[in-house]
Amino acid sequence: MSQFNILLLNGPNLNLLGTRESLIYGTTTLNEIIYKLSQRSKQINTNIIHFQSNAEHMLVEKIHESKNMDYIIINPAAFTHTSIALRDALLAVNIPFIEVHISNIYSRENFRSHSWLSDISSGIISGFGIDGYYWALETAVNRLKNNSK
Ligand code: DQA
Repeated sequence: MSQFNILLLNGPNLNLLGTRESLIYGTTTLNEIIYKLSQRSKQINTNIIHFQSNAEHMLVEKIHESKNMDYIIINPAAFTHTSIALRDALLAVNIPFIEVHISNIYSRENFRSHSWLSDISSGIISGFGIDGYYWALETAVNRLKNNSK
């Protein structure tokens, strides 16, 4: 039995990682990221479930179904800046979550500086490339082990 269940959510256009704006997002594909995260999660006896969607309602529904998850790691992509629905879904299930961005959203266009999720998140990792996903996993598991959100 895994000690913890972690839901990893990726929003729109992140299925194109590897080829999408590679100067900003790098050349690693989403499948490669998921593979490495799965390997690491096995080492730390944690179950990671991944879901990517380009559709807001699919992400909302996945959050609704996440009742038995201990932690959520989410890169909401463009929905970061637009989605009160994702915010409300995360508030509704009341599961702690980390917001991850590959790029530094504060050093880009002004509209990316506002997130509808940051103030209700446990924390944000932004601007460290795909390493942000790995750190989010380590942090989530450490926090769960220490019983802190
Ligand atoms: C992103 C940043 C968002 O502003 C953008 O819409 C994305 C990716 C990131 O990971 O840096 O799609 O969330």
